[in-house]
Parts: sequence; structure tokens; C-alpha cells
Amino acid sequence: MVEVIEEIRQKLKDLKGKGFKKKILITDLTPRDGQQCKLATRVRTDDLLPLCEKLDKVGFYAVEVWGGATYDVCLRYLKEDPWERLRRIKEVMPNTKLQMLLRGQNIVGYRPRSDKVVKKFVEKAIKNGITVFRVFDSLNDNRNIEVAVKAIKEFGGEVHAEISYTRSPVHTYEKWMEYARELAEMEPDWISFKDATGIMQPLECYQIIKGIKEATEGKIPVLLHNHDMSGMATMNHIMAVLAGVDMLDTVLSPLAFGSSHPATETVVAALQGTPFDTGLDLQKISEASDIAREIKKKYKKYETEYAGVNAKVLIHKIPGGMISNMVAQLIEANAIEKLEEALEEVPNVERDLGYPPLLTPSSQIVGVQAVLNVITGERYKVITKETRDYVEGKYGKPPGPLSKELVEKILGPGKEPDFSKRPGDLADQNEWDKAYKEVKGLLNREPTDEEVLLYILFPMQAKEFFLLREKGELHSEPVEEVPAEEVPTGKVEGAAPIEFELTYHGEKFKVKIEGVSVHSEPGKPRKYYIRINDRLEEVQLKPIKEAVPKGEGVSLPTKEEVGIPKATEPGDVSPPMPGKVSKILVKEGEPVEKGKTVAIVEAMKMENEIHAPIDGIVKKIFVKVGDQVTPEDALMRIEPFKEDKSYQ
Ligand code: CO
Repeated sequence: MVEVIEEIRQKLKDLKGKGFKKKILITDLTPRDGQQCKLATRVRTDDLLPLCEKLDKVGFYAVEVWGGATYDVCLRYLKEDPWERLRRIKEVMPNTKLQMLLRGQNIVGYRPRSDKVVKKFVEKAIKNGITVFRVFDSLNDNRNIEVAVKAIKEFGGEVHAEISYTRSPVHTYEKWMEYARELAEMEPDWISFKDATGIMQPLECYQIIKGIKEATEGKIPVLLHNHDMSGMATMNHIMAVLAGVDMLDTVLSPLAFGSSHPATETVVAALQGTPFDTGLDLQKISEASDIAREIKKKYKKYETEYAGVNAKVLIHKIPGGMISNMVAQLIEANAIEKLEEALEEVPNVERDLGYPPLLTPSSQIVGVQAVLNVITGERYKVITKETRDYVEGKYGKPPGPLSKELVEKILGPGKEPDFSKRPGDLADQNEWDKAYKEVKGLLNREPTDEEVLLYILFPMQAKEFFLLREKGELHSEPVEEVPAEEVPTGKVEGAAPIEFELTYHGEKFKVKIEGVSVHSEPGKPRKYYIRINDRLEEVQLKPIKEAVPKGEGVSLPTKEEVGIPKATEPGDVSPPMPGKVSKILVKEGEPVEKGKTVAIVEAMKMENEIHAPIDGIVKKIFVKVGDQVTPEDALMRIEPFKEDKSYQ
């Protein structure tokens, strides 16, 4: 490090009086990464358009408007067509290149797709307005970006190939250079070095950026994308400039810093009047910032607890977005008190999986597995389908070796993982044709390619979206806060609703009370099972005032009445967390061995294998596919083998 400091001192000396000039380019990320980090991607297109119009007048190299979580959130929560958003933004931004973040072979979803789908997506993204593609793979397995890179070039886009930073025993300086040389061979327009967690140190940043410039012989321009979770990103920007970086990524000040990026204004001002002047006008930027400030105000409810600088990231090295997901999962499993334990489990799972950088989708795979390891009280007692697919090589080649124990547990004794096949080749090769047929059936007409892509990437959400659009009910709810209504006082008589629609902070929820635990003691909390938008939640509720039904008592059907008993016997199979039964893999009367996967329960967007707790015979199956279940429920009962003849 001493040499680095000496080198920088010499560099500053050389720059002085040499008439050296190098304009640093700036890409503003506010409409995508900025609002994703700070406002959970909830900003509607109508509110983005005035901002985009202003950003178009500043003179940025590009502005990031699409990709990452946009697609998912548009469909899931905003009921907006992401393609329509892109076209509308393009209309108000005729002067600036529009940029998107592309997850390589995973496109904008959570698992690898066939090459055909990747190519189609790129073609349509360009047609609808995207010019610049930031392409990455969360494992830095560059076979996962090859096809996208070729397609982007073929259809006339601009390739920014990314290297994703993380810190681990296998991620050495040499490894970064190896990745840079690999990417250079694909002849991208730019190489992007990205620290999405925000833990890279300034002097290290200097070395890596300088190294990439040298490894690629200065032929390919290099940019830095550095999240600011630990508060070091602004320092890294200056170090990267000294190391020869050509472009920096920033976000307008109202949505900058912390989980986001250094502020555009800060970086522009820091370089003003130096040989690295960006040439951008702070006045124009500030006009755009004023709009961003209004947006921030309007969407304040979506600001998460983990959006600010939090130096804890230097200890656990987990990105903010991933922590919020884990928090949500633990709440869903009624085990939020295990958060610290789950965060501590993350590095163990990372190590077992060969140190993947924590980016989508590997961040989800690691996060959910860590949560499960902690909830079940036993590491890998429940293995998600995603973890299994990962070990089977369906996501690509991990950076380091996998845990031998985990591999043998999944693949069988003595087996080694095989990462020789490309995930794009392992993906379903007929998914385009299948989806095309299904969408055609849904719409009763020829679907557009954009519609087929929506459906392939998010089938359930797209289906609902098409349905609502058909009925003319496709409008995102207003964001304005609902005024508080007066709470009636006095004794409440009459039945209370058990199924209703609720508008909360501008979002509509369908709520149904599915079940209530037996009344133990007055004043003590009871367990309520509440279905919110089709997701079953278990909440502790302490009744203060209860509605007294008039006339005949109205009681909710209990799980027992529905036919699902509580798990009480050692052979009762129960899920580790609430979820939906998606597969039953055994039949009544079938003998099973302890550890055999007997059912799949879907929770936290993942498929969880449920194993037989003992050797025995499946005596009775209590659930069917689609049933909502909780850890208290018995999905089925396995009776141990007995010595006598009664089971023969
Ligand atoms: Co980012």
C-alpha cells in the first residue's frame, strides 16, 4: 500500500503544470438504481417522466432507467407495463442514451433462460429505447453474458460488461485481472467494475482500476459503479479518477449515498476546475434534483431502514437489499428474533457455495438458505430447489470450490459437481414456444413479443396483468396517504368482517382471516392466520376489544375442521415456515426412508423440499396441492415400521 501512496503522490506532482486534461464522464442512475435502493423501486412512471425530462437536458453520458427490479415491481405492485414505461421515458429523453441493467442469462429475472429468450429480450429492449446495456453475471461466470453481449452488438446496442466485486479468499487481485482479460476478449464497448455491496476500500479501488486499465492495454474505457453502504464510495471515486477511470456512476443528491451511490452534484463539484472536470452544469443538475426531492417526499413510506450509510456492512458484508429480504422472510416465518443468527449464517452459506458475489440471483439463493438453516435449527435440513440447482451447475460456475459435504448431500456420496455446461444450454429450450402458445390462449389473439417476454419472465404476475388489462382495471393506486379515520369507541356489536379489501398507503390488499388459534387466556396474544394478497401470514394478535356477534355465533373454521391436524407425532411432517403446498411426492401406503423428500412447499419465492422425519409408511396425507400451511400443521403422518405383521 505504501507504494500506492507514493505512486499517487508522484501522479499529482506530474499532473501539476503539465496541461493534462481528461473529462470524466458521468452516468446518472436516479430513475433506476437510485430509486431501487432508496424507494424500493415504487416510483410510478407518471412521477418519473418530469425527472427524466430534466435529466435529458444535463448532458450525462447515459441515464439508467430500466432493468434490475423495475420489471418485477412494475408488474407485481404498480400494475404498469414495463415496456410502456420504457417507451414513455424514451419519448421525453430524445438527447440521452437510455441504460438498463441486464442480469446476463437471467435477463431481469431470477434464473437462467434459453439463448433464444435472451436474444429476443435484447432485440426488443433496443427497439423500445435502450441503448446501453450493463451486463453482469452474479457469479462472474462470463459464459452467462456471452450470448447477451453478442445480441446487443448484433442489434446495435452498446455493451458495458461488468465485473462484480466481493471480498473472499478466492477473489484476489489476480482474479479481478483474469476477469478483466476475459471480458476484454468479448470486445465490449466498456468494462464496468461494480461494488454492489459497498465495501471496497479506496486504495484497493485505485489498484484494481489501474490494473484493469493495464490488463486491457487501455483499449477499453473503464467505469466504476460503487454503492456507498459503508460511506467509502466517494473516496473510491477520487481514487478511481487518479487510477485512470473514464466514467463514474452517480445518483441525484436526494436519493444518493448509503445503499445508493455518491451524489451527482458532489462528484461534479469535486472535480470542477481540476484536470478531470466533468463539464456538467450544477445549476441544471440542481433543477433535476428538485424534482427528485419531491419524489422522495411523495414515496417516503418506501424508504427502508437499511437505506442509509451503515458501517456494519464492513463486518457482515451483506448488501442492504438482501438484508431487507431476509427480514421479510423471517417475519413471514415468525422468527424475526433470529435475524442476527441468520446474518451470521450468511458467510457460512457463501463459503459452502464457493463465495458467489451477493447479487441477484445468488444473493437470494444464499439469503433464503441461510434463513432456512437458522429457522430449522439444522444446516441444510431443508435445501431449496435453487440451492440444489446451483450445486448442479444450473446457474453457472461458482468462483471457488463448493463444500464437499453439501455437494455429497445433494448429488450423492462420492459425486463431484459438474460445471462444464452453460446454464443457457441447461435451461428449457422450448420456453419461448410454450409461453407463446399460452399467452395466445390467454389473450385470444396473436401476442406481441413483448407480451411473451413478460409472461416468460414473470408468468403469474403477467397473467394477472393481462387479466386486469382485459377488464380495464389496470390502474396503479394513488400513492397519497389515506387520511386516518376516526376510530369508533364504545362496545362493538355485530360481526366484524373476516374478508375485506384494504387500501393502505395507496396500495390495495386483499385480506382474509383464515384462522385463529384457540383462546388460551384472556389478554394473552393469539395466533391469527391472515391471508394478504394470497400470501398466508401468521401474526400474534392481542385482542383489546372484540366484536360480539349477534345471534348465532360466527366462528372461523379451524385448521382441524379443514382437515389439517396439528403436528404432534414424531412421524408428522411439517414445513419449516408458512407457505403453499406445491407438490406432494408420495402416496398413502408408500414406505419412505428418513430424509426422503415427501413434499414441496413454496415460500419466500423459493421451493422448499420437505423431508420425512422418520423411516416408515405414509399413513395419511392431510393436505392437497395449493393448501396454505404453517409450521404447526401436519402435512402427512408417517408411521414407523413395526416388527409385527400388521403392516405387511
Ligand atoms: Co447498482
